[in-house]
Amino acid sequence: MIRDIQEKILKLKKDNDICILAHSYQAKEIVEIADITGDSYKLSVEAAKVENKNILLCGVHFMAETAKMLSPDKRVFLANPEAGCPMAEQMEPELINAIKAQEPDRKVVCYINTTAALKTVCDVCVTSSSAVKIVKGMEDKKILFIPDCNLGSYVAEACPDKDIKLLQGGCPVHASVTKADLDAAKAAHPNALVLVHPECVPAVTKQADYAGSTSGIMEFAAKSDAKEFIIGTEISIAEHLQYKFPEKKFYILSKKIICPNMKLTTLVDVYNTCRGIGGDSSADAFEIIMSDELIAKAKVCIDEMIRLGG
Ligand code: 13P
Ligand code: SF4
Repeated sequence: MIRDIQEKILKLKKDNDICILAHSYQAKEIVEIADITGDSYKLSVEAAKVENKNILLCGVHFMAETAKMLSPDKRVFLANPEAGCPMAEQMEPELINAIKAQEPDRKVVCYINTTAALKTVCDVCVTSSSAVKIVKGMEDKKILFIPDCNLGSYVAEACPDKDIKLLQGGCPVHASVTKADLDAAKAAHPNALVLVHPECVPAVTKQADYAGSTSGIMEFAAKSDAKEFIIGTEISIAEHLQYKFPEKKFYILSKKIICPNMKLTTLVDVYNTCRGIGGDSSADAFEIIMSDELIAKAKVCIDEMIRLGG
């Protein structure tokens, strides 16, 4: 059944010149039919290079918006229109403008998990894999890091010479994991290395053997000689790793780290979107529509990210 739908998607993709980009948190059956899979940084860099007429993003809304900004001449679709990231919606441009008015010399660094509207008032965008490198490379000392105060704390720790101001925002999924969860996982698997996403709270990140993006965690586990790992990010990553490296053992840090938004996209959504792109009027395809003005303003901080992080 899954194989049948996958084959139909592969045909639709070819017939309609579609490139599928899937975030690493997507389910295995989606990752298998994707052209490009990776963390937010890889997806945004690759989105700029796509040559197909259509891009189909399997992930959350801000990722599809980013792909549209980087490939404005392509038609960009999100496989499930309901899939949003709550962190991306946490702050309004007005709040940031008010802080900028008080402290005009403080540069605004935003995590890529933000709406395009919020990006229009930011100077530099970062992803979890590029944040430390980019902030270190900035000439400015005074920085406002939004919206994730946990990723922001992680960056501040790595860049002690910077004056980094944080606001209360972050990922409700990763932030739900506590030091007690970590202690329990370590007690259950004392020989395992702990690999976490920097969206986790500092009490967890500081105790980890490695903190990094979803791709960073996967690369670390692939290269490491260790045989057991506790994975502190969305549970799909432990699952993907277990399939890829059956000789190693992967444990989830907590059953709480399930992103309900990333889980919304199904293989059937991908199939129906491909049908819709192909002109089948009985199937809906959710297209990302943005004005040229919004793209131009929001893209400034993304171009800066690619310039500083590449
Ligand atoms: P990455 O940048 O590691 O892909 O993370 C995106 C995300 O939403 C993590 O929760
Ligand atoms: Fe957003 Fe958190 Fe889900 Fe990532 S895991 S998409 S940051 S809610």
